Amino acid sequence: MTNKSGFFITFEGIEGCGKTTQLRLLKERLQSAGEEVVATREPGGCAIADKVRTILLDAENSAMTPCAELLLYAAARAQHVEEVITPALRRGGIVLCDRFTDATVAYQGHGRGLDLDLIERLNALATGGVAPHLTLLMDCPVEVGLSRARARIESSAGEREERFELESMRFHERVRSGYLSLAQRYPERFIVIDAGQGVAETAEAIALALSGRLPTRQAGADSPSS
Ligand code: TMP
Repeated sequence: MTNKSGFFITFEGIEGCGKTTQLRLLKERLQSAGEEVVATREPGGCAIADKVRTILLDAENSAMTPCAELLLYAAARAQHVEEVITPALRRGGIVLCDRFTDATVAYQGHGRGLDLDLIERLNALATGGVAPHLTLLMDCPVEVGLSRARARIESSAGEREERFELESMRFHERVRSGYLSLAQRYPERFIVIDAGQGVAETAEAIALALSGRLPTRQAGADSPSS
């Protein structure tokens, strides 16, 4: 038996909001406090979903229809939840996921204009009801995020995952306000962080916001059960 239970935190926000860096910093902080942490991301997080990611983010796939895009995100998520997230939560770990279901609501729903009820149903199907306990929404103005994202793409030598960075400012404004309306709708789950500040200040704001909101581990807790 284990007396630990898993805890699921997602990071969300527009392009260039800094969530990937902050996820890494939080992972390091929790690990040094002795937690089992699984850091993962969407789309992707396991071999099959990573292949779907390559298709989704390839700038050459500009002809992809919004419906095909939505279904590919759902397919990648179904695989990722079953293969990575659910087992980690069952082991009692803390799962930190870079984007999850809210990204589909914000990007495919508010950004692309697809039906929000349909997205909710598809998210429920893909996750089997697995939902984050907390969501850190890293909020910053679109101009700030996009200029950071473009600088990162220019300086990286790998695959150019820039299909979304090439969307219009108006698209990204819709995504940002979609996220902010989700935060208003689910105030008990969302924590909105000002991500327009520097890396250290943002990390500090996250640490402060999480204090008292993570499950307390009992001293001498069992190692994860099989
Ligand atoms: P990222 O590495 O910047 O998080 O890139 C993932 C991209 O995928 C980002 O542009 C947002 C997009 N996305 C969606 O449009 N819908 C989704 O459900 C997810 C998870 C990501």
